[in-house]
Amino acid sequence: MLPEGVLINGLTGEVSPGTGKYTKRLSELREIFQDQTELDRLVEVEGDPVVYEVIEYRKEGSDLFFGTTTMEPGKVSGEFFMTRGHFHQRRDMGEVYYTQSGHGVLLLESRKGETKVVRMDPGVCAFIPPDWAHRSINVGSEKLVFVWVCNVDAGHDYGDILKHGMRKIVVDRDGKDTIMNNPHYSS
Ligand code: 6PG
Ligand code: NI
Repeated sequence: MLPEGVLINGLTGEVSPGTGKYTKRLSELREIFQDQTELDRLVEVEGDPVVYEVIEYRKEGSDLFFGTTTMEPGKVSGEFFMTRGHFHQRRDMGEVYYTQSGHGVLLLESRKGETKVVRMDPGVCAFIPPDWAHRSINVGSEKLVFVWVCNVDAGHDYGDILKHGMRKIVVDRDGKDTIMNNPHYSS
């Protein structure tokens, strides 16, 4: 394993050299939005838009890896485009999110049910403590691009958030991003 400089484009999220990537489209995120009828309509009329893309740089045998998440702007009935949201499988492993461009909200929830919000603006490096669920939400009108750095063993636990939702949602109210209680949250 040798050291290497990796070029990250803070406007497009491109990682050179990258070692893997995936894309999430709106139809794959149906369960996490409030208004699924409107989501189905958007998928139909807009041809299933991309919501976010994740590109990683990972070296076999390393303890750390990093990459970018690039989120498109968009809304479903006023609810901003967001990631699935997850806890890490390893409860002792946190993460770092360093925003490069765009404007977002990082919604965090502890196992005890505390909610925290960290604004994602260019230059803000967010500390995600171990065992806090995290979801990023693009509240701007441009791409939201952030760099994440994580332990390779952290893993993802999507089950909890998928089943119960998060306690808060982020919606556009009169042109302003607003944090509200999730009416569909189930404990
Ligand atoms: C991770 C990071 C990050 C995240 C993406 C997509 O643990 O790998 O938090 O890369 O996975 O931003 O978010 P979801 O994994 O919640 O869809
Ligand atoms: Ni994570």
